[in-house]
Amino acid sequence: MKDANFLKAHNARQVWHPMAHPADSLANPPDIIVSGDGVEITDVDGHRMVDGVGGLWNVNLGYSCEPVKRAIAEQLDRLPYYSIFRGTSNDAVIELGAMLAEFFEPDGLSRAFYTSGGSDSVEVALRLARQYHKVRGEAGRVKFLSLKKGYHGTHTLGASVNGNANFRTAYEPLMPGCFHIPAPYTYRNPFNETDPARLAQLCLAALEDEIAFQGAGTIAAFIMEPVLGAGGVIPPHESFMPGVREICDRHGILLVADEVITAFGRTGSWSGSRHWGVRPDLMCTAKAITNGYFPFGAVMVSDRVAEVFEGDDSGMASIGSGYTYSGHPVGAAAAVACLKETERLCVKDNAAERGRQLFAGLEALKEAHEIVGDVRGGHGLMCALELVSDRETKAPIDKKTIGAVQRGAYEAGAMVRVSGPNIILSPPLVLSEGHIKKILAALDAGLAGAVKAAA
Ligand SMILES: Cc1ncc(COP(=O)(O)O)c(C=O)c1O
Repeated sequence: MKDANFLKAHNARQVWHPMAHPADSLANPPDIIVSGDGVEITDVDGHRMVDGVGGLWNVNLGYSCEPVKRAIAEQLDRLPYYSIFRGTSNDAVIELGAMLAEFFEPDGLSRAFYTSGGSDSVEVALRLARQYHKVRGEAGRVKFLSLKKGYHGTHTLGASVNGNANFRTAYEPLMPGCFHIPAPYTYRNPFNETDPARLAQLCLAALEDEIAFQGAGTIAAFIMEPVLGAGGVIPPHESFMPGVREICDRHGILLVADEVITAFGRTGSWSGSRHWGVRPDLMCTAKAITNGYFPFGAVMVSDRVAEVFEGDDSGMASIGSGYTYSGHPVGAAAAVACLKETERLCVKDNAAERGRQLFAGLEALKEAHEIVGDVRGGHGLMCALELVSDRETKAPIDKKTIGAVQRGAYEAGAMVRVSGPNIILSPPLVLSEGHIKKILAALDAGLAGAVKAAA
């Protein structure tokens, strides 16, 4: 590793950072993280903290997962790469396919299409949805519906179903045929409805209305996150996703569950769809499939969709999607080892229990700090604080103050993430009660310090 002086001198000079303004990265150089162990990370100055972000919602098993590291090293030694494009395969993807089919059997998903990450998984799922209808003889079903506030990665089709202007405006025009309905976000919504059950019904009515307006026969799929993540952790009422499933079924529309964050235990259930008792037609996974140790993803396909593709004898079901790194053997070996550890440790149970502790602690912070406008979570280890400058008017917090909260928490021993007006928490699923206390104490210090500094 280069020394600290070199790293600091070059920080953000030759690197453009995702989701950042290059000038801002130069003016406020990013924190340089140089090591991680357990659920803690250490920066270039030797400052150690609990990782309240879990890498980027993906390091579910923490930074010291030896079986995964070993599996990667062994696979690199034996076969560092071989393609699985038509005509060849490798042993690691075959083993993983069997394991994923077993893991997702309760979700009704039995086939895997491998990708290099979440955006790829979304792109492939949406393409397969259109192709499914074409193979079945309904070529007019090409449109996509999704939720405002949803995040589905940054490929152009995924960005087109994204529900947040930050990822859209600079790249418009996006794909035609993508339409959005209001998210079940009780703190702010166009219906001024604060009751989660009533709001779910209003959003479902909006979905019905949009389907009637577009014409059901023009719509390929509805895509949603079971719990909206990057949009600010928005868990819907328990009636919402089952309601979406019922509407999709009635109109012949496929339901794509974007579980890039929620698959593999984060919600306290093995998948977000299972959390709500729903079986999707297609499921996008990535992130925790390899615990962040290797870029990898998988689109899981239901029996119903698989039968249409596998039963086709016209040639139309030939899949014209795929990446050089689809089914990368090192990624697949990492995923096999991850899945074994994920199940052995039954991380969903710790996610549920520590998630309850974190959510209760955040509620207490809201009591103590006026700038906390809303606390969201209650479904495993994904929570958010939405900060406001005025609780009455819900005026969003300014950038400087929320930045000071993050900095204060960092200095007090916890990495937390700022996204717009939200502080987002998505720690590794293996953390302890003590780690949660540390995150909460650090946030408490960050909130108090930021208010003091602003006064
Ligand atoms: C729900 C969801 N879908 C898709 C993506 C895109 O994944 P990636 O960043 O791996 O391309 C993300 C990333 O955070 C996500 O949260």
